[in-house]
Amino acid sequence: MKVHKIGVIMNGVTGRMGTNQHLIRSLATIISQGGVKVNDNEIILPHLVLVGRNENKLKELAERTQVERWTTNLDEVLKEDQYQIYFDAQTTGRRADAIKKAVAAGKNVYCEKPIATSTEVALELYQLCEKANVKHGVVQDKLWLPGMLKLKRLIENDFFGDILSVRGDFGYWVFEGHTVPAQRPSWNYRKQDDGGIIVDMLCHWRYVLDNIFGSVKGVFCLGATHIPERIDENGKPYTCTADDAAYSIFELEGGIIAQFNSSWKTRVRRDDLLTLHVDGTKGSAVAGLRDCWTQHYGNTPKPVWNPDIPNPIDFKEGWTKVPEQEDFDNAFKAQWELFLKHVVLETPFPWNLMEGAKGVQLAELGIESWEKKTWINIPELK
Ligand SMILES: NC(=O)c1ccc[n+]([C@@H]2O[C@H](COP(=O)([O-])OP(=O)(O)OC[C@H]3O[C@@H](n4cnc5c(N)ncnc54)[C@H](O)[C@@H]3O)[C@@H](O)[C@H]2O)c1
Repeated sequence: MKVHKIGVIMNGVTGRMGTNQHLIRSLATIISQGGVKVNDNEIILPHLVLVGRNENKLKELAERTQVERWTTNLDEVLKEDQYQIYFDAQTTGRRADAIKKAVAAGKNVYCEKPIATSTEVALELYQLCEKANVKHGVVQDKLWLPGMLKLKRLIENDFFGDILSVRGDFGYWVFEGHTVPAQRPSWNYRKQDDGGIIVDMLCHWRYVLDNIFGSVKGVFCLGATHIPERIDENGKPYTCTADDAAYSIFELEGGIIAQFNSSWKTRVRRDDLLTLHVDGTKGSAVAGLRDCWTQHYGNTPKPVWNPDIPNPIDFKEGWTKVPEQEDFDNAFKAQWELFLKHVVLETPFPWNLMEGAKGVQLAELGIESWEKKTWINIPELK
């Protein structure tokens, strides 16, 4: 058996995403499964070093996940040749400088979104990686969600006819912390700490729309800070300075219109925390994170408006659940495996920092649209 050993520096790993999605559910799982199988004779086996500020947290996390090494000194591990990948899941504002250091040290780069706090810096990171001839990628996890993959299969099999529109509904109630503790980090609600739902979510909507439905060509976005005060991790009240809801419309290549509601102050009464409702000339579908329901033209009910009587149609009944036709792995892990293969075997990996920059661009133009209260066409990034 040929074992391709690959060292990964994991920075920001004590955070919510770093710990749960990237370490426990992705790399530690890959290691415990014996690596990424390439074929019957080859595997890719990552080994990790956890990087952060707090020694106690790192030590505890390393023990819990059976990772042999941790450090608070990023600069030192960047010098070591045994590590070929730098991964970053720090808070957004800290990412660019760390990536620049990693590229200067010749590391391949994989990181969380948003890759930077401005399009200009995001493009600079892309160009730096290209110039240094290192491989680079951005987390675009939603593309590997079973619900999204089922939608993609429907499109590949021409279920919809012409797609007319997409309605995205994302969000849930994030507790303020005055009585019930909050379930998201407080920096998300402070602009000065790079928080805000537009920055957070429009990056996702860019790659979801670009990859599944068609390139985003224009945006209108209205943001709002509905909840004025929350309680932070130390129990102290703080003023919310960042948007906690975004109401956006996108125009896609081919004329598809997408409307997305993104909210941290809504109570869920829909199928999932994220749903995409797609309407086409021949059929419609609603996808959640895992499941997908379809209604074909032939099964479409014919409602007549009459509020004087209870509606005779049970609208939910006219939908069919897409059966499980494929095995789906955890979305973050699935993308990690592709990135590891990309670095070791040079297999294609189109989800690179240019794609990451496009996400930052849509968020930036979404905010500009809100400030100017105007429609904005999206220029092509080069
Ligand atoms: N892909 C997704 O679905 C998704 C979801 C949520 C968040 N994110 C992104 O992941 C990143 C992390 O988000 P999170 O929710 O895990 O946040 P978090 O606050 O839980 O974690 C942030 C990490 O950065 C580190 N950090 C913060 N300030 C630091 C400092 N001064 N020095 C050194 N390290 C510092 C923290 O120790 C922690 O490890 C963000 O960029 C966010 O946009 C992505």
